[in-house]
Amino acid sequence: MNAVDWQALERMRAVFLEGTPVRGSYWRSESDLANYDATLGERIGWKWDAALTEVARLGWKPPPGSLLDFGCGSGVAGRRVMSAFGTSSFTELRLHDKSPLAEVFATERARSDFPGLPVRTIAATELAEAVEGATLVVSHVLSEMTEAARARLLSLAERAAAILWVEPGTHADSHALISMREALRGQFGLIAPCTHGERCGLLAPGNERHWCHFFGRPPWEIFTDPDWAEFAARMGVDLRSLPFSYLVLERQPIRSSYSCLPSRCCRVIGEPRFYKGYARLFSCAADGVAELTWPKREAGDLFKAVKDGSAGSLFRFEHTGDRIKGAERAVPEESQRGDASAP
Ligand SMILES: C[S@@+](CC[C@H](N)C(=O)[O-])C[C@H]1O[C@@H](n2cnc3c(N)ncnc32)[C@H](O)[C@@H]1O
Repeated sequence: MNAVDWQALERMRAVFLEGTPVRGSYWRSESDLANYDATLGERIGWKWDAALTEVARLGWKPPPGSLLDFGCGSGVAGRRVMSAFGTSSFTELRLHDKSPLAEVFATERARSDFPGLPVRTIAATELAEAVEGATLVVSHVLSEMTEAARARLLSLAERAAAILWVEPGTHADSHALISMREALRGQFGLIAPCTHGERCGLLAPGNERHWCHFFGRPPWEIFTDPDWAEFAARMGVDLRSLPFSYLVLERQPIRSSYSCLPSRCCRVIGEPRFYKGYARLFSCAADGVAELTWPKREAGDLFKAVKDGSAGSLFRFEHTGDRIKGAERAVPEESQRGDASAP
């Protein structure tokens, strides 16, 4: 982290926390984007790392074609996806933002990180064509969009070959993303985090207080870094907590090697809560969402792996009522599903 302009960051963070449609742009200079990229943007990068790790567990890869980062800001999301799958997975990186300053910054950063990769900006009028056959990346945009802008983004998403979408892990942002899921699930297959392609179980009556969110893991070095300590203090951010919501979709028909999730799997949403001798966890499966109790003595080594966060969030549970009788990983520990080289 080089010399940080804290005032600029505080001004931007205040806008983000407001979570209401933003007129104009908060990017005033290249320096705003550099400050964001090194701090708030980097935190978003850790969320992407966590979401992409879950996707990798399934062995899913985006279809061949270009990558379009919509609302790219400093470009962190597109770069994380590019790094995760490799430049050979994409023909081009396309960047769009309503702020030309952001587009220029994101383009320069991407060119410097991925020499030889074609990178270009896409004007609003070219978006419909540019998203055709592309993998669309969207990150931390919904809360600052008007209803009309969200509707335009949805029409755009409907034309993509695949979609990777990460939003903050708040109740409001998660439900905004669930609305997008519901609108898209007819034409798209659900890759992650969903365990089925039917109506989201969180929309069933009685589940209003819940939301679909997960937690990223910041690199341990930041906890001893004085710059990150200052960032946390000034921004009022708890560095240990990194909640996010995400959605990965592929246009139907999904390529055969990725066409199904592990059978009878459950996704653990949020963070399990551990008590003496048992854990409580919120599980999403094809038959709905449910709060389950998992006695430690029936859990074996998996209990520890879930507790230390190394087991991912996809499991197979046998349960009677809300009590888990048996549990296993839905994806074997050492393997990734599918053929990673499949088209
Ligand atoms: C909070 S920033 C997130 C930037 C980046 N996606 C990330 O995850 O770090 C939101 C970005 O969306 C852009 N944006 C907001 N509404 C937009 C719209 N209607 N069309 C294009 N870009 C938009 C903003 O200019 C800003 O760069």
